[in-house]
Amino acid sequence: MSRPTIWPSTGTARPQPTEGDAEVDVVVVGAGITGMATALLLGEAGRTVSLISRHPAGRTVTGRSNAKVTALHQLVYADLAKRHGQSAAAAYARANTAALSWLRERAGEVMGEAAAVTVARDQKERDLLEEEHRAAARAGLNVTLEEAPAAFPGAVAGLRLGGQGQVDPVALLDRLEAQLPANVVHTHGVATGLRETPVGATVTGDGWSRSATHVVVATGLPIFDRGAYFALCEPQTSYMLAFEHTGAPAPRDMLITAGEPKRSVRWARVDGREVLLVGGAGHRTGAVPPSDELVELEAWARDPYLGVGRRLARWSAQDFMSPDRLPFAGQLHRVWGPTHVITGLSKWGFTLGVAAAQAMARRLTNEAPTAFDRLIDPARLPGPRGLGAIASSNAVVGVRMAGGWAGALLRGGPADLAEGEGTVARDLPTPCATSVVEGQRRTVSAVCPHLGGVVAWNPVEQSWDCPLHGSRFEPDGEVLHGPAVRPLSGRTPDS
Ligand code: FES
Repeated sequence: MSRPTIWPSTGTARPQPTEGDAEVDVVVVGAGITGMATALLLGEAGRTVSLISRHPAGRTVTGRSNAKVTALHQLVYADLAKRHGQSAAAAYARANTAALSWLRERAGEVMGEAAAVTVARDQKERDLLEEEHRAAARAGLNVTLEEAPAAFPGAVAGLRLGGQGQVDPVALLDRLEAQLPANVVHTHGVATGLRETPVGATVTGDGWSRSATHVVVATGLPIFDRGAYFALCEPQTSYMLAFEHTGAPAPRDMLITAGEPKRSVRWARVDGREVLLVGGAGHRTGAVPPSDELVELEAWARDPYLGVGRRLARWSAQDFMSPDRLPFAGQLHRVWGPTHVITGLSKWGFTLGVAAAQAMARRLTNEAPTAFDRLIDPARLPGPRGLGAIASSNAVVGVRMAGGWAGALLRGGPADLAEGEGTVARDLPTPCATSVVEGQRRTVSAVCPHLGGVVAWNPVEQSWDCPLHGSRFEPDGEVLHGPAVRPLSGRTPDS
């Protein structure tokens, strides 16, 4: 089923199907901003590349983003300096600034210029901004601390970084796709298998295979996960509301709050009209759907300060949060092997995903690594705070695994369901998931094919979401988002 955003579909056709067997230098799985940039960089370095995606470019995470392209990531520099040292914060700033420049050159008129501003709403947040100001400036960013930024309800201070960018993410991916050289072939296919040998690897799907010296998996959480990244990165869902803008003028900055509840604002021009995008209400994927928080988010957006009118669309985006604020880009098995991954982009994929793609291209073309490349190597140790985050995330996974199964097995057969509802119930030997969407009642297995979590119904998105590692499925069981690669089994339309 379609879950529309406000980004117009700007001509990206579904690529040709992946067929037959072929050999290339590199296989890239996933064609969001990270996979697309990786394929483009490697292709321009002369490598033959097979870029394989389940969906047309930009139809999953990237195309559901609010697409702020900036090196100012809310509050990250003070934390990076504390966890990894000031030189790490400086390397992070340089890598993200370089990613912004690369994207700006590639995007042309698709990218508009805007300042990024982190906003404080009380004295505690203001103190955090001052600390971030010092750390970001020491990292080399030209940030300024200012009194209350205009057009943000309740702001008492802002940390501003000018000269950043904002884009229509689907148009940007179309633009990058058009720049792929002839030695990069993008095809549609569902990659389900990976065979590794001492000299390379083969990715397989239904009736096709691609063999290569290297494979790069850029699918959010890696779909071929033998490095246990699903135990490192927490899946997060957040929501975006798009409104007609009726006040004058719309805020021209890309705004985000320093603290919770998080609120994110940017404007866009879509089909000739001014639109305000308001984001927030984030939660761990598969948690109880936050209907109250969505109501609060919309009420907040209707503050007269923002001048919004009719709501045009509402959708969710999914991200994978790193335990130590740094992404992972390197070998799947951490220290050996032909398979590489990029993950843990922590909601800042437009710059961090491109920076990681640039690091990956350097790695696979034997260029000397930068300080940033070494920082994001998956072989790193996450440090005490990172280890704490991993432990607590995995404790949640354990509780949800047990709770999901216990709850499902205690519940009787599916009750009467109204349109848009779904429920999980006992259907021995496994729980079943029943939903009613667009008048169609469907029952599928409730057991996630990734590692056996019990899915939960998300009434906002009308999807089955796994609370363990964030796989998401259509009402008919088809995969919306990995790490699962196979659908929920037993698809049985009831009517
Ligand atoms: Fe891992 Fe469902 S995503 S068990």
